[in-house]
Amino acid sequence: MASPAIIVHGGAGTVADERRAGCIAGVERAAQAGWEVLARGGPALDAVEAATRVLEDDPEFNAGYGAVLNRLGTVEVDACIMDGRLRAGAVGAVPWMRHPITLARKLLEAGEHVMLVGGGALLYAREHGLSGDPPDTMISPRARERHEKALTTGVGDTVGACAIDRDGGLAAATSTGGTPYKRPGRIGDSPLVGAGNYADERAGAASATGHGESIIRVVLCKGLADRLRAGATSDEAARAAIAELVERTGGEGGVIVVDKQGRVGHFTSTPRMPWAAVVDGRLQSGAEQP
Ligand code: GLY
Repeated sequence: MASPAIIVHGGAGTVADERRAGCIAGVERAAQAGWEVLARGGPALDAVEAATRVLEDDPEFNAGYGAVLNRLGTVEVDACIMDGRLRAGAVGAVPWMRHPITLARKLLEAGEHVMLVGGGALLYAREHGLSGDPPDTMISPRARERHEKALTTGVGDTVGACAIDRDGGLAAATSTGGTPYKRPGRIGDSPLVGAGNYADERAGAASATGHGESIIRVVLCKGLADRLRAGATSDEAARAAIAELVERTGGEGGVIVVDKQGRVGHFTSTPRMPWAAVVDGRLQSGAEQP
């Protein structure tokens, strides 16, 4: 039996002082929701989905209900979920959906396709008993304010979770509204296997946050997993993956990881990235890079 563990993030960025406490409380709630699954012997996949749903419901974060608006003033969300057996489900540019991580999970379970986007993803959702959400329930006050100010700067404050269960099963989940004021149809790193999200039982599980166009080009989470397989610790692999991101692309971002031994790690190049973890039943959290 392995020692279960979970780590979640609420997105890399600046995180103004007045938002810090709310973001920490949000990631702690999410980590605890995932931990409850692991503590009763549930699978890592259920844990990362449960944690991500909590973050998607929280207007502090750019995912689900808190998702930023694109330049047409509409919401299009991206998400990916993957387990250590290389099963994956992903959705991109799905209009008005509060819990895209659950739609991605449906794809993972079905195993027919890895990724669906836009109207096709919505059609699949309806066929599987899910639906888009009414637009008037999907725009948080913060997202509206950001749109009205057309805040196009800064990296995307995506959410994510990585977990290992007591059987050693690994899973990673990532969900986002993408970048503020993005073009309609733009898909970032979050739903792309290996870029914003990755899990491999021979290495570990990772979820990224930050400038999607940069993260895609270095295939950040797969690169991190390769470092784990080469013998790096979780913290070393996270730090090296972000160093490569910054050096090769100039993009900024952060990442969380749990390796196949259950060791969690995190690193960000940005001033803050709210994170929370439960390891050995003990909750830890923070936002600044030590
Ligand atoms: N990292 C989130 C995005 O760029 O869409």
